[in-house]
Amino acid sequence: MGAGIALVAARAGYETYCFDLSADALARQRKAAQKFFGRSVEKGRMSQEDCDAALGRMIDTTALTDLADCDLVIEAIFENLKVKKELFGELNGICKDSTIFASNTSTLSITEIAAGTGRDDRMVGMHFCLPAQVMKLIEMSRGINTSDETFATAWAWTEAAGQISVETQDKPGFILNALLVPFNNDVIRAIEAGLCTPEDIDTAICSGLGYKMGPCTLLDLIGLDTQVLLGEAFYPITLDTRASVPPLLRRMVAAGRLGNKSGGGLLTAEKAAKATEAPAFTIASAGDSRSFPTGDDFLSAAQGDGPVTIHLGGGFAADAGKTAVLVELDTECLGVHTGEDMGREGSNVVGFARYRNGSDAPSNLIELVRQPATDDAALAAARAVFEVAGFDVVVCADRPGRIVDRLVRPKYNDALRFLDEGLASAEDMDRTCCMGLGYPDGPVERVTRGGLARHCDVTTAIQSMTGLPGYAPARAAVVAKAREA
Ligand SMILES: NC(=O)c1ccc[n+]([C@@H]2O[C@H](COP(=O)([O-])OP(=O)(O)OC[C@H]3O[C@@H](n4cnc5c(N)ncnc54)[C@H](O)[C@@H]3O)[C@@H](O)[C@H]2O)c1
Repeated sequence: MGAGIALVAARAGYETYCFDLSADALARQRKAAQKFFGRSVEKGRMSQEDCDAALGRMIDTTALTDLADCDLVIEAIFENLKVKKELFGELNGICKDSTIFASNTSTLSITEIAAGTGRDDRMVGMHFCLPAQVMKLIEMSRGINTSDETFATAWAWTEAAGQISVETQDKPGFILNALLVPFNNDVIRAIEAGLCTPEDIDTAICSGLGYKMGPCTLLDLIGLDTQVLLGEAFYPITLDTRASVPPLLRRMVAAGRLGNKSGGGLLTAEKAAKATEAPAFTIASAGDSRSFPTGDDFLSAAQGDGPVTIHLGGGFAADAGKTAVLVELDTECLGVHTGEDMGREGSNVVGFARYRNGSDAPSNLIELVRQPATDDAALAAARAVFEVAGFDVVVCADRPGRIVDRLVRPKYNDALRFLDEGLASAEDMDRTCCMGLGYPDGPVERVTRGGLARHCDVTTAIQSMTGLPGYAPARAAVVAKAREA
């Protein structure tokens, strides 16, 4: 992180002292800096002259005393409170009075770090995103004693450096990690519980929500060992069980499966080819369909009497003569229609829903729901019908919320609760998710657009079946539901 932050500073024209205990680390960073700026020249983003000047502004040192005249010191060392406090304590004796101290910590409290500096009025949180030289977002936070002048000066520095900052309270994980760490753990718990494959989680989240990167791809990228450290840092402070380290995550790390850096993590399977032929299907409609509203193109492909029957709008009738009987689901489980025993005996019934964020238009994602002994032939027929029609298809067990709502609804609750707790503004929370995580829209905008009352319905349904506190609808959703009534 320190290497990336140094590139941001040097690129913006600041004389930049790069301090590390390790001369090897500094040598590696210089090579990386030459490569990064060199590529910028090749791509026409920077002139050779500017590249040489930026590299010339970077001064490597292993002597802390060289930082004496710096106006701003941005610390990005090992994530350990004691070590960071010691470093700032030492710097306090070296740096001029006006030097502002900033920490890039992801999980520690700025106020606690500042308490060791001897200048807690001149300390701020500046949380860059990885890789800092590419990602524009900085989460800025103040410790309890940070002066307004310090915060304003540090903020002005980020603007002059061409970054885009958001303001957040000094709380574990600020905005980005506070939303991401429990969500990532939920993903691992879903895999551990046998909900579906990691590959299908990524397909569901990217297709249903439009995220640029699936959560399993992201976890493999950041490293499962890093996710353990994040959980271990968060849980003791927040006591949020979703932040606690899932047993499967510990086992993966113990087995050396750390993600991309170890050559293997959560994702293991090749992407399967989509079906090219599908059996004919018949539609039986009992009411309004959330998946295929009147006029939807898919409906026009239905035939009189196909081997597959699709029940829309809450209806269901068993028909053993069909290859597959598909039942559209809303917030209920398939077992409500079929009985829990049917799946155990073998069944041609498959549940499904086309993912839809409240009243938004339906997405391109179909979640298929299977019971323990659902026929493979029925599942294959259901998959073929939807894939040939152009949908992305995933398969999951008959569990509340299926894949997308199970994983994303607690995050919406978190975002709404964070708003009530004053963590950050809705705009800054949404901007953080879009810029830091590549989401097409932020959680507050998305849940509000989809309808807070609908969010209340979905989370209440999941909570009634699981008892998990993460699904307890946030205040704003409960209020919206009450007003709807
Ligand atoms: N990795 C990320 O995605 C990420 C993102 C945002 C913030 N952060 C935060 O940035 C900080 C650094 O994380 P990282 O992933 O770059 O760690 P890292 O282990 O890759 O790098 C830490 C560097 O600090 C040096 N170092 C260790 N102790 C030192 C000391 N006492 N004085 C000076 N240098 C010392 C090490 O030699 C090493 O080069 C942490 O606080 C982390 O929470 C990390």
